Amino acid sequence: MKTLKFAVLPGDGIGPEVMEVTLEILEKVLSDNAYAIDTTEAAVGGSAIDQFGVALPENTVRICEDSDAILFGSVGGPKWESLPPAEQPERASLLPIRKHFKLFANIRPGLLYRELLAASPLKNERIPEGIDMVCIRELTGGIYFGQKSRRVLDDGDIEALDTMIYKKSEIERIAEVAAQTALARNKQVCSVCKANVLTTSVLWREVVTEFFANNYPEIELSHMYVDNAAMQLARDPNQFDVLLTENMFGDILSDEMGVICGSLGMLCSASLGLETNSLGNPFGLFEPAGGTAPDIAGMGIANPCAQILSGAMMLRFSFGLSDIASKIENSVKETVQSGIRTGDIAFGLDAVNTRTMADAILSRL
Ligand code: IPM
Ligand code: MN
Repeated sequence: MKTLKFAVLPGDGIGPEVMEVTLEILEKVLSDNAYAIDTTEAAVGGSAIDQFGVALPENTVRICEDSDAILFGSVGGPKWESLPPAEQPERASLLPIRKHFKLFANIRPGLLYRELLAASPLKNERIPEGIDMVCIRELTGGIYFGQKSRRVLDDGDIEALDTMIYKKSEIERIAEVAAQTALARNKQVCSVCKANVLTTSVLWREVVTEFFANNYPEIELSHMYVDNAAMQLARDPNQFDVLLTENMFGDILSDEMGVICGSLGMLCSASLGLETNSLGNPFGLFEPAGGTAPDIAGMGIANPCAQILSGAMMLRFSFGLSDIASKIENSVKETVQSGIRTGDIAFGLDAVNTRTMADAILSRL
């Protein structure tokens, strides 16, 4: 029997409760297919601050290094909001993990099932079939990681500085991820930039244009300024198939994509690098996009779908088990379609709790 070895970082808020049911589902579906799982749990985020004084303990990094993938819950919450920004759970755990494991490619599917149209704030006649797109965001470069500083000027004024840097090689490797994603979909990529203002964007646009012309002439490439992209997403999201963005633009646009796709409780993501795991597949971190939902944490009513779908992405990317991943995805979809739903996506139907939702997904597998 083959064993899948991954690190489990439940984190804060609803993280542990949605992680628990996700692991049950993974265990069940994998054992049905003759795979075993070998997980090591590690502390991260606010709960790690409480236990060990830091959001990303060294031991957690080591456990991740010894694994073939990281299944991540979510981090943060009101309890830690008074800490200095650089020490807060989100910034002090997620960003260093991304950098440490060189997870430069963030894949965020924007999927809205037709049955959940009511969950989208967009007028439903604009998206009669729902939404199906994906954002490919560069994750370890740009203004997030450039030099930062702050100083008091001679005249007493205060100046702060963030630097946005991109190298050609960084742009090419994320363009490659967008190309691969597009090939498996509709062969359309829209590259987002601000080339009318930013030098990094001028380089971005040049490199992306040349990269696609030389390597993927069959893919239809377009370019859009980020402000227009934000507007077009709200106006007609289905004009997009694959969005390719630098780090900061992708942060902003993927939140917008998330909200037009209805509940954050449905959104999963993958962060991948070039390094391969012991199986020769990409090492990656897989996490829901919805956050810790402190208002409902511990109540057992959170939507587990985003975490379960993140687990499916892990099977697909880091373990090469696309078939099993698709089974899980279909089962989530059918469960939602059949009307078994947690409160965030219930819309007049009787809401079920996390356990019942997970059991319904499990029973369809
Ligand atoms: C995200 C988050 C992070 C980011 C924060 C928590 C640092 O917003 O994953 O989109 O800005 O990248
Ligand atoms: Mn974000």
